[in-house]
Amino acid sequence: PLPGAQPPLGKIPADIGCAADYETLAQRFMAPPSYDYVAGGSGRDLTVAANLAAFARWDIYPRLLRDVSGGHTRVSVAGQQFAHPVFLAPVAFQNLAHAAGELQSARAAHAVDSCLVSSTLSSCTLEDVARGAGPQRWFQLYFQLRRDDTQDLLARAVKAGYSAIVVTLDAPIQVPSKRAVRAGFRMPPDCVAANLRGYAPANTAPLPPRHSHIFQGIMGSAPTWDDLRWLIGQTTLPVLVKGVLHPDDAVALRAIGVAGVVVSNHGGRTLDGAPASLDVLPAIRAATGPGFPLLLDGGIRSGTDIFKALALGADAVLIGRLQMYALSVAGALGVAHMVKLLREELEVCMALAGCANVDEIGSGAVLPRPGSP
Ligand code: FNR
Repeated sequence: PLPGAQPPLGKIPADIGCAADYETLAQRFMAPPSYDYVAGGSGRDLTVAANLAAFARWDIYPRLLRDVSGGHTRVSVAGQQFAHPVFLAPVAFQNLAHAAGELQSARAAHAVDSCLVSSTLSSCTLEDVARGAGPQRWFQLYFQLRRDDTQDLLARAVKAGYSAIVVTLDAPIQVPSKRAVRAGFRMPPDCVAANLRGYAPANTAPLPPRHSHIFQGIMGSAPTWDDLRWLIGQTTLPVLVKGVLHPDDAVALRAIGVAGVVVSNHGGRTLDGAPASLDVLPAIRAATGPGFPLLLDGGIRSGTDIFKALALGADAVLIGRLQMYALSVAGALGVAHMVKLLREELEVCMALAGCANVDEIGSGAVLPRPGSP
């Protein structure tokens, strides 16, 4: 563990009452600057706050006397079957939370039948992650500076048995977290992207005078629609896009052959002031129609949050920060326990709301809280 952090427990902590408790407990198990790095967003954390607040603006109707005794949480996403809709989001550099980072989350995902979405920026290689993971694993891909490198990354993911590619497009610029900066956070030297060894590093060549570091520098090599079309043409795997917030983008992505989208603002870590994922979900569902796979992440801390996301149009959800928190507290056991708790919380909510399966969780199951805008 880093200075200021307690070593992870070898057992599930006794004093965890719900999945969200891992957030509080993690403060003891992560070095304070690392905790701030994980918890923080970009800018003033407006979007981090919006993600959480959005769930509180919806209520759930309890329904009476319905027979849910044959109930289950199974879902189908992009033609693949899952035992439940609680997926593990791609979260970079998990050795910040636990020495064996991604290997532990991969084991956890396997143990509790969760789909693991493994990050390009993992602290161990995608091949190592795949060895520990269960059969349900997707690969989150960041475009690389050189097409050859992107192609190589994709080929490696296919070879390692990942069954879908999730291209994250909302973070062409890494916006530092002010909260992490203030806490004195520095990426430890052993937090390196193991997958990218040998690839061209981000373009740091000096620019001619009066050129913008942002527009001509970083964005000069950012991916475009042509790059995405090219990528889709490179693989037979379903390609999903993560980071979608505008209905027009979702519709345009579907039109070029994207297999589904993750409605996400990167947990408030890119554009501060972007809307809460939950707030834009109904419009994206309306624009893309009923059959198009939609996942959602951002601010999910409980089973009732998951229920609300499903009611408003999501097929499944991804868990970001809670994964890192649980990992820091008890490694694979912690992550598996956290997912199990979320799934149980969802089941309790479904039972009380009279829904025997996720198809029964429709928009009529929730109502906007009176007085909310
Ligand atoms: C992320 N996220 C992220 N997303 C992605 O596509 N690739 C990545 O490498 C990372 N890395 C990453 C690191 C950390 C520390 C965090 C907190 C988040 C975003 C992540 O997949 C997800 O969108 C959000 O975390 C969801 O919000 P919650 O669950 O954290 O509120």
